[in-house]
Amino acid sequence: MKHQDILSKMTLEEKAAFLSGKGEWETRDFERLGIPSIFCSDGPHGIRKQAGAGDHLGLNASFPATCFPTAATIANSWDTALGEELGKTLGEEAMAEGVNVLLGPGLNIKRSPLCGRNFEYFSEDPYLAGKMAASYVRGIQSKGVYACPKHFAVNSQELRRMAMNAVVDERTLREIYLTGFEIAVKEGGAKTIMSAYNEVNGTYANENKHLLKEILRDEWGFNGIVITDWGASNDHALGVAAGSNLEMPNPGLDSARELIEAVGSGKISMDDVDARVDELLDAVMTLHANAKNRKEQFDHNAHHAVARKASAESTILLKNEDGILPLKRGAKVAVIGDFAFVPRYQGAGSSLVNPTRVETISEMIKGYDLQVVGMSRGYARNGKEDAATRKEALDLAQRADIVLFFFGLNEDSESEGMDRTHMRIPQNQIELLQELGQANPNLVGIISAGSAIEMPWHHYFKALLHCYLNGQAGAGAALDILTGRVNPSGKLSETIPRRLEDTPVYRYYPSRERTSEYREGPYVGYRYYDTAQIPVLYPFGFGLSYTTFEYSELTASEAGISFTIKNTGTRDGAEVAQVYVALPDGKVFRPAKELKGFAKVFLKAGESQKVVIPFDDKTFRYYNVKTNRWEVEGGTYSIMVGASSADIRLTAQVKKAGTTETLPYEKEQLPAYYTGKIENVGDKEFEALLGRPIPDGKWSGLLTKNDAMCQMYYAKSGLARFAYNRLTAMKKKADESGTPDLNTLFIYNMPFRAMAKMTNGAVSMEMVEGIVNIVNGHFFKGIGTVIGGFFRNSKKNKAYENGLRK
Ligand code: BGC
Repeated sequence: MKHQDILSKMTLEEKAAFLSGKGEWETRDFERLGIPSIFCSDGPHGIRKQAGAGDHLGLNASFPATCFPTAATIANSWDTALGEELGKTLGEEAMAEGVNVLLGPGLNIKRSPLCGRNFEYFSEDPYLAGKMAASYVRGIQSKGVYACPKHFAVNSQELRRMAMNAVVDERTLREIYLTGFEIAVKEGGAKTIMSAYNEVNGTYANENKHLLKEILRDEWGFNGIVITDWGASNDHALGVAAGSNLEMPNPGLDSARELIEAVGSGKISMDDVDARVDELLDAVMTLHANAKNRKEQFDHNAHHAVARKASAESTILLKNEDGILPLKRGAKVAVIGDFAFVPRYQGAGSSLVNPTRVETISEMIKGYDLQVVGMSRGYARNGKEDAATRKEALDLAQRADIVLFFFGLNEDSESEGMDRTHMRIPQNQIELLQELGQANPNLVGIISAGSAIEMPWHHYFKALLHCYLNGQAGAGAALDILTGRVNPSGKLSETIPRRLEDTPVYRYYPSRERTSEYREGPYVGYRYYDTAQIPVLYPFGFGLSYTTFEYSELTASEAGISFTIKNTGTRDGAEVAQVYVALPDGKVFRPAKELKGFAKVFLKAGESQKVVIPFDDKTFRYYNVKTNRWEVEGGTYSIMVGASSADIRLTAQVKKAGTTETLPYEKEQLPAYYTGKIENVGDKEFEALLGRPIPDGKWSGLLTKNDAMCQMYYAKSGLARFAYNRLTAMKKKADESGTPDLNTLFIYNMPFRAMAKMTNGAVSMEMVEGIVNIVNGHFFKGIGTVIGGFFRNSKKNKAYENGLRK
């Protein structure tokens, strides 16, 4: 053990207490042993260090920090150098605020556009997500702060996120849901990782030996600490045995007692406890030392400038007819849309940043050479009709040469804690844009939305700029692009399908049962659309520029490829070249093409550059479920270089020898997977893919401590059903108000056990058992346990606390 000196002085009580948090954000300190406390904070796109009362839902105020564009936005830059720069900036702010562990980046895969947290995640593609995440991690950690990639793993649904079992076959798990984390760990060198709320194949992520021990620690060589998501610990002892170090946030001493008992009963070994304590000690001591002479300030202006640059580089030009953009000098424009006055620049939930300042279009536009005929909010943010404002907007549209329409998803459309139920923007915005389109043919749309939306109205626009959620400096960045000060270079990190019904998981997502079955296998995003040949509106990897690029001279060898890109237009610009790999005649099913490399190349007008992209261990591999290893199938691979997944410019072939003769699948059993038509996979075929029976996900009988509050719908007790109805009514009211109530959403999706995990010792697991008994109709038995448990818990807590103080 690295810290044997300290370990040997620690009592079991101290070790057990050390492995869970002492408050919303901090670890326990032990003066006697010289162990300091370390501080964790969200979040992925800005520091959310709370000054006063802590909460993990972004409810209480936090110190002002730079609000950078969210991960969904930055991924569109495809620029790992930018990711690293952002990471450094975030690391610097974290250090200035006294934050030791930054709880991000988030890199769950966008399995469905409906996931309420997609705005916090990078991509539908694990390679891109992993590369971007690794770049953040490198940047953050270069400043002495640890990054914490999250949520490990398969956390792609918000509905009952804490009480959900993701049922996924091993190959899909590895290729789609783990590869990004693998890159963040191996290439980024992440020193902490956050275990997800959900179960993965029947075992909670935080106590999943396969994930945490066999894959994360043994295969990937991770030697840092695993931190639970807030309230994600189910059985702390099993977590520790599986390789999880720190239960967060504040389970009081109940979890520590659970550990001591588990050691006593032989459920876990003392060696496991010592190993986890040693790893945590290493993190705590290192982080504390790193922060010794920290700078307590950061340069607000310089960081704002980084946010602006990041936003400009990540904005995507989706459409540009008649060269309407960039706007000519002095162009006569009308500015319409509430978002031009109150920007939608970040998402809701634990990632919510209190920005140092926020730019708005209505203010910033004064700094540009444009003739603004007027500005109008046009529509009401809450979706309500507002005839007067609408008329004002239409009048303006008629007086201008070009209409700039700012619109998108409202705050209540996407948030942590909920999934969307559709992909539409609010109806009042659609109606206004249709009328604007009739009033003025020169309509330019500027979209703010953290995830893919349906755009059946896109033909109304001559140009469309997708800004995603572009952070506090987003307005200036958008204007820079609209006016041509910056040439757009963002490309989509997710597909924009034509309609929700076209998405691969339309029938599977979000699961309403106890289990979420990943029946689509690896066919996520473009992997599906390409293979099943489903037309999309804007393909993965797509984005326009004000200049043009030509690709030539592709050469390929077993080691990698090289090709030339030339800027053939009249403006300087940047191109994101993408490398896709396919094995057309393979015996093992696989998507029509998969991203295996990319490069962002900045070129002056007329300039050309040779681009070299080496292959890596991921280029040809697939996970073979028979040999239980990564293998390469022998054959002639197509290497495609393109400007998007649908715009392949150059192709070459590379021959590879196979690594095994053992084939993982019987083709006849898996027709859907061999064609990519996975929209409606039957039980038998999904079982063949899983290699085991599908677990029964139906609710029946009694509720358990692991069922979410919203399952009280099934409760035997009238009281519990009443509580369920109240909760549902509160949720509905909040939904209708236009602002999601994150507390209600959290409680709605929270399992009973979380009461013991997040109340700083006030509620014990024993009391939770009592509550569950009440819910199941055993009122007297239950209330007895709750009351008795309360006194027993307080007494034990006191005794433990006194012991620790000695
Ligand atoms: C979220 C995490 C976040 C944590 C702390 C949880 O609810 O899932 O992403 O880091 O809260 O705020």
